[in-house]
Order: sequence, then structure tokens, then C-alpha cells
Amino acid sequence: MSGGFPHLFSPLAVGPMRLGNRVVVSGHGSKLQKGGRLTEAYIAYQAARAAGGAAMVTTEILMVDERARYNANSIVVTRDEIIEDFARLAGAIHAHDSRIVGQLFHPGFELTGGDDGSIRVAWAPSAVANERRKLVPRPMPAAMIEEVVGLFGDGGRRLEAAGIDGAEVVASHGYLPAQFLSEATNRRDDRWGGSFDNRLRFLREIGRDIRAKTGPGFALGLRISGSEHGLDALGDDIVVEVCRALDADNVWDWFSVTLGASAELGAADAIIAPMGSEPNHAVPLAARVKAAVDAPVIVTGRINQPAAAEEIVASGQADLVGMVRGLIADPQWPNKARAGRADDIRVCIACNQACIGHNHKGFAVSCIQNPVSGREIEFRDVAPATDAKRILIAGAGPAGMKAAVAAAERGHRVTLCEADERIGGQVLLAQLLPGRGEFGGVLTNLAREIAQRGIETRTRTRVDRALIEAEGPDAVVVATGGAPRRPAFEGDDTITALDPWQILQGGANVGGRVLIADWAADWTALGIAELLAREGRHVRVATSASTAGEMVPLYTRNPWLARLHDLGVEFLPYLRLFGADGETVYLQHILSGAAVLAEDVDTLVLSYGQRANDNLLADLDDLDVEVHGIGDCLAPRTAEEAILEGLRLGVAI
Ligand SMILES: Cc1cc2nc3c(=O)[nH]c(=O)nc-3n(C[C@H](O)[C@H](O)[C@H](O)COP(=O)(O)O)c2cc1C
Ligand code: SF4
Repeated sequence: MSGGFPHLFSPLAVGPMRLGNRVVVSGHGSKLQKGGRLTEAYIAYQAARAAGGAAMVTTEILMVDERARYNANSIVVTRDEIIEDFARLAGAIHAHDSRIVGQLFHPGFELTGGDDGSIRVAWAPSAVANERRKLVPRPMPAAMIEEVVGLFGDGGRRLEAAGIDGAEVVASHGYLPAQFLSEATNRRDDRWGGSFDNRLRFLREIGRDIRAKTGPGFALGLRISGSEHGLDALGDDIVVEVCRALDADNVWDWFSVTLGASAELGAADAIIAPMGSEPNHAVPLAARVKAAVDAPVIVTGRINQPAAAEEIVASGQADLVGMVRGLIADPQWPNKARAGRADDIRVCIACNQACIGHNHKGFAVSCIQNPVSGREIEFRDVAPATDAKRILIAGAGPAGMKAAVAAAERGHRVTLCEADERIGGQVLLAQLLPGRGEFGGVLTNLAREIAQRGIETRTRTRVDRALIEAEGPDAVVVATGGAPRRPAFEGDDTITALDPWQILQGGANVGGRVLIADWAADWTALGIAELLAREGRHVRVATSASTAGEMVPLYTRNPWLARLHDLGVEFLPYLRLFGADGETVYLQHILSGAAVLAEDVDTLVLSYGQRANDNLLADLDDLDVEVHGIGDCLAPRTAEEAILEGLRLGVAI
């Protein structure tokens, strides 16, 4: 069965591995490990992807050298004691007839932190400064280079001993092997630098050492950025030549092509490209590599639709499709596509919020749409309700919708009420911000699940005490969301002050010179600034944070700031709104307390986040019925918390 995607669901031999289809889980950090070791949570997380039908699962980066841990908690393959952890992982993946490969990794000058907060010495080919990490590495002595080559081989040997099917050497994203390849970061004049062959030597030696220390049944692949995008980066021509030369060695079983490099912020967002960027963006680069090599090619980057994946394989641009976020959002993506249920897939919207957003804050991987990801153990044993209840839900935003689906799945009889004429809550507005149209995808899947479960949905129905008394439900869920928060300030009546919703709903009278007072430092001010600047207005953003968008995931914020810069938007950091007097807005520096004036302002936009719509909750205080509040009506936060709380309530009620 191929669900209409015959190429995607055809088998392929990759070195000694036989893969049942062309869908691969590409390597990604989970933060589910502890002390550098795998945990049950990690194994459950990866096993869920294998159970979902992916033919091959790739671990995240595994440290080959204790001196060069990407960060303190990075998973290590430096000691034999890890073999038993990886054996459990291999068993869990093989149980689903999927293959598992481990990413062998050395960061070079891409160290993100020492064990105790102090900064370690970073070792790299040459003492070339790293713009992002603000460090200058120490050039590796030749003896250390040879030693590190051997550490890659030792890592491969341990993985094989654990029953892992293969290894993928991470030469992508500007990490150590890529630092050897690039003339910008490799300034050596010994046998490891200079000519193309000398710069390639490190990777060749690694491949040779892993092959020498493992058997013929162990697969070996290479991950590389088809283009690194940065100033000091590898360009696509050289990458094609590197792959062509390595392929001729007959050492590598696959080439996994992706995008971006980590050491420059302007190139790093291409690694995990945000909403609004081109889907399938690494495919042209993968096609160039594919034309130059015989080994199978994997392509990864913003692939989230089965039809696109089928086309990539059918057209021969790549042999395998790698996905990360698509399979975090829906681990059942392959099974659903294969069964002809592509419309049931919960499509990743590239918001970057709970996957790489969590990762950058040091927390475990998850998904705003699918909170079960990364919490497989918490949600493993959800049982049908023993006592089916009649549940009335007030508010059909993401929280109410998710609670409705989760409760209905367990056998409860749910009625979902929405005061507005459409379900969706604040997502309906959030999706109107420039470049954020995909955010509406949060609703697509929830609405489908509501329809499939036959949940009674009443729009234009405001829930109040009288309605509850008339309906007599066993439980009420209040998910009434929030509304724009408007601060009090001196001179409010002297200036046109609008909230973001008024602008997004259309029809507001916005002048030509706009100041956005940005308390929230979230998506809103960035989006409103872009919207108004594109309409030809002069826009300033006075934010109370160190940068506008401080609360927005890094790889979403940075390209947005770049666009706003190019549109001429001005940023004024560390300022709070104090007052207004006609065309003058009074601000206060939040650190020094000094007054700062912004003159010539026609319209003030108040980006102050939300206040809780909690009237109904208060009204029900003394009602003799089970009442639960979830999402923004408790405390305004984001869609992530709304959906998580909706799920947690739905499985507990
Ligand atoms: C949370 C997260 C962690 C990642 N960690 C790794 C990693 O350990 N190794 C790696 O090669 N790539 C890593 N990546 C990059 C992904 O492999 C992939 O190339 C990228 O997410 C783009 O694919 P996607 O659009 O399907 O998510 C990570 C991505 C995410 C979202
Ligand atoms: S949090 Fe957003 S980007 Fe990450 S997997 Fe979920 S939908 Fe995709």
C-alpha cells in the first residue's frame, strides 16, 4: 500500500541496510538525555517515530571527544558503558522494523558551553574567530587531529557493538569536519590544510578509521550542508566537489544534504527555516549532489507534505526525504500518508516554538500542535473514561478545541461553544500577521478532529451561568481566552492609540508615523511593524526588552529582524511607555529611569499582550458543578500552553 505515493513508499538499499520506504527522521537534539546518557524518555520519543512508519531514525549529535562537548548535557559515545543504553535504543527502533543510525559529532569552534558555566578551550583547524559564540579557538596540533580521527572510529565501534545500524558523520552546519573543508576556517599549511585534497583529508581519515573499526554490516553516511549560506561558509560548488570526491572513495553509503551553518546568525536560521520561508528549500542543492554521486542522497529542510516528498523522490532529486519538525508535529506522518490519509496529518507550521525554541532554552523537544511529542511517557497510558460525562466547553480557541478532542476520544459527550461566528480564537488574528499565514494550520487539524469525532459545535453561543443551568452538564471547561491589554498612561486622550487587534481586524485609522510601544516583545510588534512599514509608513518600535522579538524563537526572530531592518523600521530598546502629549510620546529607559522622547508620532500602537477573559470563571465560583479553566483565561500565554492544557485536561477529566 502506498497511499498514492508509490515512490515514497518503495524500499531502498542504503549500504548494508534495507529501508522499507524513503522517509527518514533526520538528526535532532531532544534534551531528553540526562548527564550525557540516553533515558527512557529519549527511547520512547524515538520509538514513537519508528512506530509512525519512518524507515530510518537518526539520533541527535553524539560527542566523540570528551574535551569537545557541544554543551554539558550532550550525549557521549566516548565510554563503553554507553553501549547498553544504545542497545536498548536499537531494540526499541528495530521492534518497529525501522533502522537506527547515530550521528558522530565534534563541534570544533562551535562550543556552546562548558560543564559548569566556565568556557572551555575550543579546538579547531585554525584560530579563526567565531562570530556567534564570541570565541577564538586554539589550533589543533597535528597529533590531536590524528587522535580525534580515532575517536570518531571508536564512537562507530561502540555504536556497532550496541546493535546500531550505522553512523552518520556530521560535516554539516559548519561543525569540525566542515571547518576543515572551508578555506575560511582552515588556514593550516600542513597536510591537513591548503589544497582541496589536504582539506578533505580529515573526513577521508575519519571514514577510513570508522570502516577499519566496524564490520561490513555497519552503514556509514555523511551529513553536509548543500550550502552554508554565511560569509565564511562553504558554497554549493565546493560541496558538490567534496561529495563527488568522497563518493569516489566508496566509503560512504549515503550523503545527507541540508542547509545553513551555525557560527553566523545570518546563516543559522536556514538550519531550521521558519514559517514563511520556502518549503523544500534544500532540494535544488540535494539534486546537484545527487547528480555528482552514486550513493543515495537524503534531503532535509522544510519538507512537510507527502505530495512534495513523493515528487522529490519521483523526480530523482533525492532518494530519501529527511524530516525533523514534520515528524515531531506528527510521528504518524508516514503511516497516514501510506494509508491514503494524508489529510489527517498534523502538518508542521515551522513556528519553531516548542521544538528548537525549547531546545535553545534548554528544555525537552515538543510541539505546540502535538504536546505528546517529548512527553510520550506522560501520555502513554491514556485510558477511556470510566464515567462518561456531559462536558460543556466555553470557547473554541486552541485550548477549548484540544480539550474537546481529547475528552471526546475518551468517550465523553462534549459540546463546544464559541461566542464568535467562527471557531479558532486568537489564531484567526495571529495568522494575519505578515509571513504567519501558516499559523492557521494549528486550527486545520483540530477542526478536522472535531468534525471526525462528531463533536457538537455551537458558534455565536456565549456561555453564561444561565446557559449552564439550562444545559445541566456534568462539567464545564472555561477556555474563554484573552483580549488585548491596554496600559494606563498620562495623556491617553491626546493621541490615537490602537491595539494590535484593531489593526489586524482592518478599518483602523493609522497615521503615517507610527510608534509601537512593545511591552510583550513577542511576534505581535514584529508583525505589526512589518505590516505598517510595507504599507509605506514610518515605523519605530520602542521595546521594553533588549530587542523586539526577544520572546520569539531565535531562528524565527532573526530573519524577521533582517526584513524589518531592510524596510527601514527603527528599534529603540529598553524603553517603557510613560505618557503622550499630542505628537510626542514620553518613554522611560527601564534601566536608567531617564526620560526619552519620541516626537512626530501620529499613531501609537500598544503591543501589551493580553489580559485574561476570566469573567465566566469568576461567575461560576459558587456553582454546584465541576469547573475547569484552561489557557489564556487563566493567565495569558501562547497557543503552546493553551493546547497542552487542553490535552492535559481532556485526558484527566
Ligand atoms: C530541535 C532540533 C534539534 C536539531 N538538532 C540537530 C542535530 O542534533 N543534528 C543535526 O544534524 N541536525 C539537527 N537539527 C537540524 C535538523 O536535522 C533539520 O535539518 C532541520 O530541522 C530542518 O529540517 P525540518 O524542516 O524537517 O525540521 C535540529 C533541528 C531541530 C528542530
Ligand atoms: S513546534 Fe512548530 S515548528 Fe516545531 S514541530 Fe511543532 S509545528 Fe513544527
